[in-house]
Amino acid sequence: MTPRKIIIDTDPGQDDAVAILLALASPEEIEVLGVTAVAGNVPLELTAKNARVVCELAGRPEVRVFSGCDRPLGRDLVTAEHVHGKTGLDGPELPEPTMSLEDRHAVDFIIETLRAEPPGTVTLCPLGPLTNIATALRRAPDIAPRIAEIVLMGGAYFEVGNITPTAEFNIYVDPEAAAEVFAAGAPITVMPLDVTHKALVTKPRNDAFRALGTPVGIAVAEMTDFFERFDREKYGSEGAPLHDPCVTAYLIRPELFSGRHINVEIETTSELCMGMTVADWWRVTDRPANATFMREIDAEGFFALLTERLGRL
Ligand code: BDR
Ligand code: CA
Repeated sequence: MTPRKIIIDTDPGQDDAVAILLALASPEEIEVLGVTAVAGNVPLELTAKNARVVCELAGRPEVRVFSGCDRPLGRDLVTAEHVHGKTGLDGPELPEPTMSLEDRHAVDFIIETLRAEPPGTVTLCPLGPLTNIATALRRAPDIAPRIAEIVLMGGAYFEVGNITPTAEFNIYVDPEAAAEVFAAGAPITVMPLDVTHKALVTKPRNDAFRALGTPVGIAVAEMTDFFERFDREKYGSEGAPLHDPCVTAYLIRPELFSGRHINVEIETTSELCMGMTVADWWRVTDRPANATFMREIDAEGFFALLTERLGRL
């Protein structure tokens, strides 16, 4: 199998970290062309640093990491230290990164890569607010038809919202960017809260990470230990939801997920519903389908894959 070439656009974030580790552990299926950082869970300086911390944890300091947009297109940045801690990667003690950031801006890297690679061969994997991707599409509309697929974590329909009653964090932080990405015409696959709230790190699953006995296994167990406090208190759930790893798991084992190809629009005007992903799940409009919106996950299969792959690092 030829590995899929991807760019991971991310705001690490413990769950972003696990998504990156899963990709780096899976070279047969995934070739990571670069990791682009965006402001989101924590400010850009920290997400750009955390992306490098994670690459070094994976033993892959040669992965290229680029720093991107430090704020949403037209709004102030909203962050989520209440979930991810002050550093964004609270939990394990991880060393300061020694690898450096690439000189190029993340948006330039995204544009230049999509122009340089054959059309339809590069998949974008946004795990945070969609600011970098929307900025690239604004500056270079010619890249849209060259994108193989955008597989993103964001939004919700049945679960409605996590940062507000009606919005999921990644979409809420930069709704204008999200609206532009969903309107770009590229094939889109969405991992919403409806899926990710079923990917819970229960105690036995956390124990399985720790039992790997490796620096990666132990760090992932410590990250998910930290990150679970918030969801346990808020939802009474059994453990931390691994939102972003659903994206990279989909690239490896798409059959773990199921959903519908439907129309999804982003609310950008209502203060009350700002950033809502208005998903036409029941197909009650004639708006054209623009995204595959996932709903179900084989959680056992997902955690079996994840644990096995993390064990390879
Ligand atoms: C999303 O928001 C962030 O807190 C997580 O990293 C994930 O990408 C979940 O709403
Ligand atoms: Ca994220």
